[in-house]
Amino acid sequence: MLADKDRIFRNLYGIEDWGLKEAKKRGAWDGTKTFIQNGRDWVVDEVKASGLRGRGGAGFPTGLKWSFMPKQSDGRPHYLVVNADESEPGTCKDREIMRHDPHLLIEGCLLASFAMGANTAYIYIRGEFIRERERLQAAVDEAYEAKLIGKKNIHGWPFDLYIHHGAGAYICGEETALLESLEGKKGQPRLKPPFPANAGLYGAPTTVNNVESIAVAPDILRRGATWFAALGKPNNAGTKLFCISGHVNRPCNVEEEMGISLRDLLERHAGGVRGGWDNLLAVIPGGSSVPCLPADTCGSLSMDFDSLRELKSGLGTAAVIVMDKSTDIIRAIARLSYFYKHESCGQCTPCREGTGWMWRVLERMARGEAQKREIDMLLEVTYQIEGHTICALGDAAAWPVQGLIRHFRHVIEERIDQYAANPNPDGAVREPVAAE
Ligand SMILES: Cc1cc2nc3c(=O)[nH]c(=O)nc-3n(C[C@H](O)[C@H](O)[C@H](O)COP(=O)(O)O)c2cc1C
Ligand code: SF4
Repeated sequence: MLADKDRIFRNLYGIEDWGLKEAKKRGAWDGTKTFIQNGRDWVVDEVKASGLRGRGGAGFPTGLKWSFMPKQSDGRPHYLVVNADESEPGTCKDREIMRHDPHLLIEGCLLASFAMGANTAYIYIRGEFIRERERLQAAVDEAYEAKLIGKKNIHGWPFDLYIHHGAGAYICGEETALLESLEGKKGQPRLKPPFPANAGLYGAPTTVNNVESIAVAPDILRRGATWFAALGKPNNAGTKLFCISGHVNRPCNVEEEMGISLRDLLERHAGGVRGGWDNLLAVIPGGSSVPCLPADTCGSLSMDFDSLRELKSGLGTAAVIVMDKSTDIIRAIARLSYFYKHESCGQCTPCREGTGWMWRVLERMARGEAQKREIDMLLEVTYQIEGHTICALGDAAAWPVQGLIRHFRHVIEERIDQYAANPNPDGAVREPVAAE
């Protein structure tokens, strides 16, 4: 279990005040000027050495990403863009950072921007986060007032920070759709290459990072890369915010060490599975887009990127969705399919057509109104979507369905058998699923 002294987010639950005075008492803005005096390469090297992997879902090494930015400007400005869109179902961690510890994020923005030669950063915040935007703006105003940021600040790196409020679309969390939206256009992903480090916001070199990735950077510099790297497991370092929801006794957000076992995480922090561990059916370990894992794989499950990948799932955003045995797993995954169908931006045919197709078939399967051969057809459709689209929303829509078939094919087959034996048990007339 993570020791209190190793926590980065000391006000995760908003027990103390979020403002500058209290944030400084908790350690924020301590040593910032020295880090800048140490130079740009030092900051990038420390973050690289810490082993920090991006907290937005894909787990790409943060220091390495920063090092892709050009060393010298060719005349174009450099930008940092912070992804605060947080729309992945089950994920609710960045929101708590912005509400209760906003100065860690603002300090991180300054340091990360300095490391990449950027004098301007934008925080793109989810449309529904109205109070969070107000709180964050108040903290930014405080930082300007105290000359911690701004064109002439006490740290010696001219820096402006703007908050941009989105309009509430999941796809705008995808980094290039986010950049389009920030430029005032429709939020639709761009084809890559070029990658944002070459041509990002307004065609200039840009790095997009998640809120948590940026907010942990100042503490990595303060406490040292070796401190962070010693927490967790090799290649899966540090502390991590986990969002625990679903059928647990006390849903919560908690900062823990990477690699903690799922059982420890749930029992120490979330009051355990409703009805006890043996009542567990499955978990979605990393936000709605990663494949679910059945209870028999969960006993010794290690919550880190590499372990979950080995099980053909993923740590994603570390949003752990717990489902007990009362769950209709087919209906649960059908609901997620509906979400992805609704959020597809429609640019690519496999995603636009495939997400609706998967949802409609799953709705029928949830009622048992299907043929068993359709299970493999459905699986084949997921393979036709995965890897064949402009952005990863297509993969995100395909993976939950693959997880369902991989681990719960027998449940789908039983449902089909039940329906075949007794198609209309209560005499009810079923509503057809709209053919959209
Ligand atoms: C459909 C979709 C939605 C996404 N939503 C978010 C999001 O809300 N927040 C986020 O940080 N990353 C999101 N991502 C991942 C971003 O594209 C990007 O990888 C991430 O912001 C990089 O930050 P990191 O390197 O710090 O993890 C999303 C990706 C996709 C495909
Ligand atoms: S995969 Fe889906 S969301 Fe992404 S660009 Fe294609 S249609 Fe749009």
